[in-house]
Amino acid sequence: MNLKNYNAVYYFLMYSKNKLYSFIVFTCLVGILAYRCSGALYVPTALDAERENIILDSLILGRELYIRNCGSCHTLYLPDRYSKTEWKAIVKRMQKPAKINDVQANAIYLYLTARAKKIESKN
Ligand code: HEC
Repeated sequence: MNLKNYNAVYYFLMYSKNKLYSFIVFTCLVGILAYRCSGALYVPTALDAERENIILDSLILGRELYIRNCGSCHTLYLPDRYSKTEWKAIVKRMQKPAKINDVQANAIYLYLTARAKKIESKN
């Protein structure tokens, strides 16, 4: 009996005659994975900057800092998951574990709250 027959994926990977086909399939899988992991965090636009009345570069920096400092212990929570008030408390609480200074924490806060959940608009 041939053990290889029991594992189609393994067989496909190791013994496929058509390397080009395998390569294309893998490139697609890796691409999809990369997209699913990074695509959800919005990239700030000039419109965001104008609405929030700050420089676009600050928002872009905030996004970078958020990705770099806030995803090591848990997944990166999406900005629209919390309101501005909630984010303020969260970033304050997470500053110490993330080992970031006030300026970095503020940049992250600004990025997160440029598209925060809008529940404080009752007035
Ligand atoms: C050293 C690990 C660590 C780092 C770094 C870290 N966190 Fe957390 N975070 C936690 C833990 C643990 C929890 C869950 C317990 C808690 O809420 O305190 C949490 C919970 C959260 C939650 C869930 C909401 C809530 O109220 O609990 C959010 C949102 C969050 N973190 C945001 C951030 C942000 C933003 C940063 C970057 C500034 C960050 N985290 C960096 C450990 C970390």
